[in-house]
Amino acid sequence: MYDLVALRCEFPVLSGCVYLDSASTSQTPHCAVEEMNRFFLDYAANHGRGAHHLARKATAEYERSREILGRFLSVPADHLVFTKNTTDSINIVAHGIGWECGDEVVTTSLEHHANFLPWMALKDRGVTMKVIPHEKGFVDPDSLQEAMSPRTRLVAVNHMTNVLGTVQPVEEMTAIAHDAGALVLVDAAQSVGHMPFDWTGADFLAIPGHKGLLGPQGTGALYVSDYGNLSISCHGGGTVGNVYLDSYELLPPPACFEPGTPNLPGVIGLGRAVELVEELGVSDIHMHESRLGRIMWDGLTGIDGVTVYSPPGTTVISFNIAGLSPDECARRLDEMAAICVRSGMHCAQPLTSSLHPEGTVRASIGCYTSDDEISIFLETVERIVTDL
Ligand code: ALA
Repeated sequence: MYDLVALRCEFPVLSGCVYLDSASTSQTPHCAVEEMNRFFLDYAANHGRGAHHLARKATAEYERSREILGRFLSVPADHLVFTKNTTDSINIVAHGIGWECGDEVVTTSLEHHANFLPWMALKDRGVTMKVIPHEKGFVDPDSLQEAMSPRTRLVAVNHMTNVLGTVQPVEEMTAIAHDAGALVLVDAAQSVGHMPFDWTGADFLAIPGHKGLLGPQGTGALYVSDYGNLSISCHGGGTVGNVYLDSYELLPPPACFEPGTPNLPGVIGLGRAVELVEELGVSDIHMHESRLGRIMWDGLTGIDGVTVYSPPGTTVISFNIAGLSPDECARRLDEMAAICVRSGMHCAQPLTSSLHPEGTVRASIGCYTSDDEISIFLETVERIVTDL
């Protein structure tokens, strides 16, 4: 197990709050911030757009991050496209598949809006979205099997829900989809960096830079197993070799999927953050977060007046206090003990509103969360309940 005290020194903000909102965004370690500072102070330049030494250095560092992320995910680096975030990654797929009228996308009722709206918006192109149900946060692969049809073009499923923290059997679901000739997109927003997993089965893997990978906001990636399944949907500089008055020649991927000036400092910071996650070890991160999740779940379920929606074994835990709106509960936690949690619908309204019409309070754990923080959180929830 890594040295938690030393790790927390990488995140100075943690000395002034109890941060339980890592499912929304993680904090960024000092080492990644330093790496971004180095870009700005020592070699800021554009990617692939100059022969001068600063441009060469900036390009090399940006591409080094791609190598780091490829190594971390055990996928070929040149099958990774850097994006703004998970939403951007999913939209690249939604706009890049050559849909035909009558095609179907199968997704679940556990999705974040990012893995829901892009498919719903394809209605205008004659694409139907089918939503399979869940039982207490888990999708039964049999219901996917039942939903499959000869017109199913894509199965788009989250790996871990951002509301309940439950993990879906994506390997089994991928096998079902592939047997039926459909492609699979896995939304790994909440799981990448938090739990070990073999991602290589997915056709598309959408990941954020700013959650379990500890990178800065505005970074993400899309893994594309076979570029033959995807066309580019956004054109511009950096994507082309030759351009003539009436035609152009695209560069090979991933370059053709990264138009315009990319987020060089962000991607370079992300690379350094991923190295830190590698140093900590995802198995150890998972073990640490799971242990704290058990303490939090046991503590919350033991308080009268608290309803916990997440099942045991989760690290993203949704709950409510009877007689208090989720927003008011979050406000009191912050006021009483500087506890940061998310409240409301969590950008997953179909799921969250089915738990409670006003949404939930959500506490989520990161690699840097401490036992003391969980104790302070549970004590404060108890005080709120007692004071009602
Ligand atoms: N998707 C992020 C969350 O669940 C923003 O909070």
